[in-house]
Amino acid sequence: MEKSIKPITDFTSLRKLWDEKIKDHYWRDRKYRFGHPDMVMKYLRPELTDVLYEYGCGYGREAFSFSTLVEKVVGADISPTNVKEARSKAKADGNSRINFYLWPEEVENLPDSSFDCAYSYATFQHCEDVVATKALSDIRRLLKPSGRFLFQFGGGPEPDSVRGAFKGVYVDIARSPSEVGVMLETAQLTWEGLIRREVGKFIQYWVFGSREE
Ligand SMILES: C[S@@+](CC[C@H](N)C(=O)[O-])C[C@H]1O[C@@H](n2cnc3c(N)ncnc32)[C@H](O)[C@@H]1O
Repeated sequence: MEKSIKPITDFTSLRKLWDEKIKDHYWRDRKYRFGHPDMVMKYLRPELTDVLYEYGCGYGREAFSFSTLVEKVVGADISPTNVKEARSKAKADGNSRINFYLWPEEVENLPDSSFDCAYSYATFQHCEDVVATKALSDIRRLLKPSGRFLFQFGGGPEPDSVRGAFKGVYVDIARSPSEVGVMLETAQLTWEGLIRREVGKFIQYWVFGSREE
């Protein structure tokens, strides 16, 4: 039977959807560590003095690793359950280098040009164009003029395919490199390189670059 799948773009419904998914144990109980440390070290090159923004940080799986490499980390996620859990861990660890914010409303209070780098993993493929555009425009505003970024930005198995759905709603959108390029250009983020990686049966695209002056 064919699935009926519809796009979902309003933030309140998205929040409800993701929080339900998270409570349903989606992407939970993974180890607190980088999934792709080689990509982080080679293309984002975190420095000890950096302030880093992570979009779609989940419960902080990678954010806590970043906090050992940079001065300050801000993780943002749409799921209150994730944000709450991440905050509790930071408090329990006594980690004052890391903060977690609810996306989008709390992120709007962060000052312009206050971040040296931005990172995102396994999140943009869950965002409809209108949502991804908003997230990229936040990043453009938050990054310092020379600020760098590294995003894992969707992928295969085939460009334009929809790989998964949750309760009849899009959750997994694959984009072609040119579509990714258009989104970055629209956000005035300069794309310096695109890496295509095969991870099991999936193809991941990673993009890195910096904010246009
Ligand atoms: C596959 S998980 C990845 C989490 C984290 N990046 C990691 O690798 O552990 C996707 C995450 O994106 C978050 N998310 C989904 N849509 C989002 C949106 N529009 N803005 C911010 N976060 C979102 C979900 O709540 C979830 O935590």
